[in-house]
Parts: sequence; structure tokens; C-alpha cells
Amino acid sequence: MKIYIIGAGPGDPDLITVKGLKLLQEADVVMYTDSLVNADLIAKAKPEAEVILSAGMSLEEMVEVMVDRVKAGKMVARVHTGDPSVYGAIMEQAALLKREGVSYEVIPGVSSVFASAAAIGAELTIPELTQTLILTRVEGRTPMPDREQLRDLAAHHCTLALFLSATLTKKIVRELTEAGWSPQTPVAVVQRATWPDQLIVRSTLENLDADMRANGIRSHAMILAGWALDPDIHSRDEYRSKLYDKTFTHGYRKGVKE
Ligand SMILES: C[S@@+](CC[C@H](N)C(=O)[O-])C[C@H]1O[C@@H](n2cnc3c(N)ncnc32)[C@H](O)[C@@H]1O
Repeated sequence: MKIYIIGAGPGDPDLITVKGLKLLQEADVVMYTDSLVNADLIAKAKPEAEVILSAGMSLEEMVEVMVDRVKAGKMVARVHTGDPSVYGAIMEQAALLKREGVSYEVIPGVSSVFASAAAIGAELTIPELTQTLILTRVEGRTPMPDREQLRDLAAHHCTLALFLSATLTKKIVRELTEAGWSPQTPVAVVQRATWPDQLIVRSTLENLDADMRANGIRSHAMILAGWALDPDIHSRDEYRSKLYDKTFTHGYRKGVKE
């Protein structure tokens, strides 16, 4: 007995994986959070599938329904926004499922962090500038472990992707400034990446709070910060990767001497 936990992707129904879509189309029962997953994707389930909205349900209720259907011999798909492994709260479901003797398989999805980078045509790892991306959030109602305070993570001066933090921009600015980030550091905010009403705001650390307010962004936003987000990065030769440098030899190509 098992249920499928499927990553729906960031919004655009075409951004689910082929495997995820196949399972969604085979499922007898589809459970999803209506505010986060696109209903146009759920509409691809078979017409007779039972579709359950989970937004108003408690964890126990959700698990009870899933277990009930699986035990009745039905195929259950639990559809999560983006990739289920990132702020997906799947472990609490898994723990209760396990108690009921039900296992699960996760089908990955396109996380909003990568959909947002794609929306602005960015590479988040630029050779010799930063080779590290930190996925995190600012402390709000959910406490952050002490060793993961934003100012400490930001001390690496790498690219930061901030989930669940749209209403906490003052705190972001304060902590990054304390970590030594310059006021001009580029920040890109993508709200509702890949949805028809996607909104992109290019800003800087010093203008972030005002730009978020001016655009009324309070939820469903990915905040990408760091010099990899510099809109002029394309014009800087110093950040070219060695991989395609004609003088660089690697396993698949011999470099030429200049
Ligand atoms: C509960 S988390 C879920 C993240 C999801 N598992 C993922 O991989 O994208 C919700 C947060 O993800 C981000 N998010 C989800 N979908 C988004 C989208 N389409 N555009 C921008 N940010 C999004 C926002 O920061 C939002 O507050």
C-alpha cells in the first residue's frame, strides 16, 4: 500500500514531470492544496477521479482520507506545489502514513526557486563570483535554528533564495546589511512565477522594502539575492565559465593554445 506524493511544479501545468503527469492521470483519488496548485493541472486527472481539496483539512484529516482510500484499493496522488522536498511538510504526513502501514513514493517537481531563476533568465551560480546557492527563509512564525540565522548564512556572500519571506523584507535588509552586503546588491523578486499574472521586480538591497510595498507583494514570492542577479552580468567577460573556454582542456574536448 503506497501513495504518490507528486511535485506539481510552480504553477504552469506544463511544468509537471512526465512521470508526475502519468501518475496524476492514473490516480483514483487526487488530493491537493487549491491555493497553491493550478486547478488546470488537476483537471488532467481522469474524469471519474475523486478530487479532494486539502486547504481546509488538518493533517490528521488528510492522512485519514488518504489511508481510507488506499486501504479501499484506490490509487492516491497527493499533489504538492513546486518540489515536495522544499517546505512541503511531507514528513509529518509520511510519519502518520507509516503508522498506518502505508508507504509513499515522491515524484520530484520544478521548485519555484528554479522557475523564478528561469523567469528572469538568470544563472544562480556564476564562475568565480559564486558557486553556491542557499535555499532558506527568514524567521517568522516558524523559528529558525540558531545556527541558520540569515545574517550567518549571508556571510558566505553567495546567492540566496528566500522562500516564505515576502512580508519580512525589512528583516532581510537588516540581516544582509549586518552580514556586510552592500546596499547596491541586486535582488530579483518573482511573484507567482509561471502563472499568467507572474510579476518580476528587479531591485537592490536598499530599495527592496519600498519596491515590495510599491508592487503590493506580500505572498507567493521568491526573493533571489546576490551579485549573480546583476541584470548586467551578461556584459562582464570576467565571469565566463572555463567549461566553454577554447583554451580549457576537459574530458570531452582538448583546449587550443593561444
Ligand atoms: C510552502 S512553500 C512551498 C515551496 C515549494 N515546495 C517549491 O518547491 O517551490 C511556499 C513558498 O514557495 C514560494 N513559491 C511557491 N510557488 C511560487 C511561485 N510560483 N512563484 C514564486 N514563489 C513561489 C514562495 O516563497 C512561497 O511563499
